[in-house]
Amino acid sequence: MTTNRTFTMIKPDAVENGHIGAILEKISSAGFKIVAMKYTQLSIRDAQEFYSIHKERPFFGELVEFMTRGPIVAAILEKDNAVEDFRALIGATNPAEAAEGTIRKLFATDIAENAVHGSDSDENAAIEGSFHFSGREIY
Ligand code: PPS
Repeated sequence: MTTNRTFTMIKPDAVENGHIGAILEKISSAGFKIVAMKYTQLSIRDAQEFYSIHKERPFFGELVEFMTRGPIVAAILEKDNAVEDFRALIGATNPAEAAEGTIRKLFATDIAENAVHGSDSDENAAIEGSFHFSGREIY
């Protein structure tokens, strides 16, 4: 069964480069409704926990350093087939391989600083949304 929600972060590179508005416009135009959103900054402990599934990967330290270096926008998005459709909207992890018109093709710097996160499964969307938002912050 698929749920109709996914979780996203606009990452520090995209915030630094002034892309918050343009990315939210792409998300909205694609039919996603924002049901929770906050402007925040991850602590090192937050990032280590959020990305703990990747802790054995060679880039883990770099990923944590990057994700904590400045503010992010965290949001829960609603749409039919949200996880799959949002992954299509953001494009491949490596922006060099992302399709034309995708958010990463338009706004990402490189594979390490790739502008946005999108949950990779319904189960992770629920876990990641709960990591950032309490029940009364979700509308
Ligand atoms: S994905 O999207 O989960 O299928 O991609 P994956 O390759 O598994 O990457 C998981 C997260 O790690 C980030 N990543 C990297 N960071 C730094 N350096 C390198 N080389 C690198 N490769 C991947 C990638 O952006 C994913 O972060 P999120 O926030 O999940 O998009």
